[in-house]
Amino acid sequence: MALRQIRMDSDPVLRKQTRSIDVISDRIRELAQDMFDTMYQAEGVGLAAPQVGILKKIVVIDTGENPIVLINPTVSEPEGSIIMEEACLSFPERSGQVDRPEKVKVTFTDLEGGRQTLECEGLLARAVCHEVDHLNGIVFLDKVIEGTLHDDRNA
Ligand code: NI
Repeated sequence: MALRQIRMDSDPVLRKQTRSIDVISDRIRELAQDMFDTMYQAEGVGLAAPQVGILKKIVVIDTGENPIVLINPTVSEPEGSIIMEEACLSFPERSGQVDRPEKVKVTFTDLEGGRQTLECEGLLARAVCHEVDHLNGIVFLDKVIEGTLHDDRNA
């Protein structure tokens, strides 16, 4: 098990664009495993590569059903809207209400190099949208509904 350092707060890497992954190398498989290890250690449900300082399009998610790795993901066909409390491992002790689609489709490359489409709803849809945002330099604080941010850093 290898833990990577989670980038936090105003770290500029969290605001950068990421590059597509062309080849699923051993290095990418190792990165995915390290991202799971890091996410579980921090008790999160999702982690995107920029959060460990890597500007590549890969995220890991485990909302309690089964762990998934999304490489080069694209989100489509959003349906509905749910406002729910959200947080992020890169912004500890902060949370706030974010409006996300109730359902989305995500198309991605898996670790074997196959292209898949997954229909997501509820917490999984929320996690997919949150993590794919990270690949575009967008963080949940950008989307928190005004007046709902809780900040316990100095509590
Ligand atoms: Ni996050």
